[in-house]
Amino acid sequence: MPSILFVCLGNICRSPLAEAALRAEAERLRLDLIVDSAGTGNWHAGEPPDPRAQATARRHGVDISGLRARQVTPADFRRFTHVIALDHDNLANLRRIMPDDATAELSLLLDHLPGREGQAVTDPYFGDDAGFEVTWSEVTAAAERLAERLRLTRD
Ligand code: 4NP
Repeated sequence: MPSILFVCLGNICRSPLAEAALRAEAERLRLDLIVDSAGTGNWHAGEPPDPRAQATARRHGVDISGLRARQVTPADFRRFTHVIALDHDNLANLRRIMPDDATAELSLLLDHLPGREGQAVTDPYFGDDAGFEVTWSEVTAAAERLAERLRLTRD
């Protein structure tokens, strides 16, 4: 079964929204996926998603209040089939900790969205609610393409 780990910096804003978006899309397509998220940093480990991220997900019908932040580990590269970074800094840091026996495919999230290849998902942390909506629309669009690709691989 495909297993996808989304990784941002704090695991309280971008990657929990990506996790929520892909889980919702997988349910819609009746696609069996394992979906998780983590941060390259550990400052927020154990915390629920940022209240603004929780509110954004709720506006789109998804409850992410039960998620808890954790830091990514080298073992994640053996446990997941896909490790997906939300931006370039996190992608670079993931490359640095990726073990030699990694089995996961490492990528940038917007590389899965035609027309947005090579771009970073908006970091809404220092902005307002409007920024969280932009982030939600980006991760949702990418999650739809990603889920479609995983469905085609399965069938
Ligand atoms: P995230 O957002 O990486 O999308 O969860 C941030 C969370 C925390 C910080 C920055 C971005 N921070 O500076 O603590």
